Amino acid sequence: MRVLGINAIFHDPAAALVVDGVPVAATEEERFSRRKHGKRPVPFSAWELPELSAAWCLKAGGLRAEDLDAVTYSYDPALHRPADELGLFDPWDHLRLTYAEQVAGFLDTALPGFDPAMLRYVPHHVAHAASAALAAPFAGDCAVLVLDGRGEQHSHLAGVYRDGHLETLAAQGLPHSLGLLYEDATAHLGFLRSSDEFKVMALASYGKPRFADQLRELVHVTGDGGFVTTGVEWAAMAKPRGADEAWTDDHADMAASLQLVLEETLVELASWLRERTDSPNLALAGGVALNCVANSRIAERAGFANVWVQPAAGDAGTALGGALSVAVDGGDPTYPMPTAALGRGFSDDEIEAALQTARLPYERPADVADAVGEALANDGVIAWFQGRSEYGPRALGHRSLRAHPGRAENLVRLNDVKGREQFRPVAPMVLLERAPDIFRRGPIPSPHMLFVHDVAPEWADRIPAVVHVDGTARIQTVDRTTEPTVARMLESFERRTGLPVVVNTSLNTAGRPMVDDIKDALECFGATPVDLLAIGPFVVRRDALWGRSSG
Ligand SMILES: [Fe+2]
Repeated sequence: MRVLGINAIFHDPAAALVVDGVPVAATEEERFSRRKHGKRPVPFSAWELPELSAAWCLKAGGLRAEDLDAVTYSYDPALHRPADELGLFDPWDHLRLTYAEQVAGFLDTALPGFDPAMLRYVPHHVAHAASAALAAPFAGDCAVLVLDGRGEQHSHLAGVYRDGHLETLAAQGLPHSLGLLYEDATAHLGFLRSSDEFKVMALASYGKPRFADQLRELVHVTGDGGFVTTGVEWAAMAKPRGADEAWTDDHADMAASLQLVLEETLVELASWLRERTDSPNLALAGGVALNCVANSRIAERAGFANVWVQPAAGDAGTALGGALSVAVDGGDPTYPMPTAALGRGFSDDEIEAALQTARLPYERPADVADAVGEALANDGVIAWFQGRSEYGPRALGHRSLRAHPGRAENLVRLNDVKGREQFRPVAPMVLLERAPDIFRRGPIPSPHMLFVHDVAPEWADRIPAVVHVDGTARIQTVDRTTEPTVARMLESFERRTGLPVVVNTSLNTAGRPMVDDIKDALECFGATPVDLLAIGPFVVRRDALWGRSSG
């Protein structure tokens, strides 16, 4: 089957193309529209479809809309209930229902050749579950746990996939929602709701969980696979913070308390699921599964031998999950998702032509990976643009900023380049076979940066730029068989410095989506104090820009 998956209802609009069970292309609309998260998650924007990313997915697969067997939409209006019946204050939520019911009309405009008979509604949490369990690198049965802000009526699904088919074991109804709870706290702490939740996780490391007991009275599991979350008064813990105000100990303590209670609750939910399935495998999705600290606690304590998280765990991933779900129901096989690099890529000729158009002085070194290893060893900040862009919010080695991890000041330097808050950590990438020497107490391999690890004490002083205030790091392990260029760069850096670790953070500036195409990369390089841009086989050095004639 040829299935195009669409996510549009809440946030992170995205598209994915699955052909005969294989993910051919998947990408988020923000990478094309250059608007972070694609749109604001309000009912008024529910009609907006990922038109640009959907059109690109078709082009990448060499298909036209009329060639498709199905187009999925990861929200089922037949399951919708009015917000007040669900206990949610969301007075315009009925617009979502209207737009979801009318989506065939919108698709008709967005995808010329679309036939309304192609449309398949997939329940929101089934789409999340499929994105994890049907893409996970496991053979046999797979338990699946989905936690997010909300779907049609629920905020959670616990189940198991057997032979590609989902058996749901529990689903927590709204208004109880760990995702909405975390979003409320995000807004109370002065960050952007449905966007900046990871900042709360980072801030938690600076606090003490002194409000945990009072939170546990309101946020806890209920013994039947579900949980409660309502009635929390954040103002009793910390004053609401304005976006431009400094954070206080109260804010950090509130974040620490929430993070601890979230971790405890998730471990209990996963343990409940483990007791009801005989699978050693757990797949996670939903926006809450982007909380890499909680993921590590689940991996450590819930009793599963293997835990895998869909790299596009947020709503963007439901584009892929919806398509996989319909493909499997149609009889197609599934395959482990070999890479998150399912977005746009460019040929060397296209890159060189763009560099010439921009009149940039560039070189073609014998090995771009070695040139970057040398520049990093000389303490340069490097922008790295190689291969296809990645699906999901993490930079996994194809669109990255890199720096030397041995210099503590590089954290400040990178946060300055990106215009980010200084309490936010940057992450290390490390060769897979070296990771166990340096990083402990977390799953290895960890190719998608979705777990945290403790940094071994003997290494903490050697790589201070990537060690968070609590002694942890959110690592990416690099397998030389799947990422040979990144692996060569790491080897080149280690030969020069003795460190098998490099700082890796996403290639973007504050408030902007990650760089996706060549022009984005050149604009980012032009606007930031990056020393070297490695783009395809070419490098552009900041130093070489000076003295170049404008004629
Ligand atoms: Fe979701």
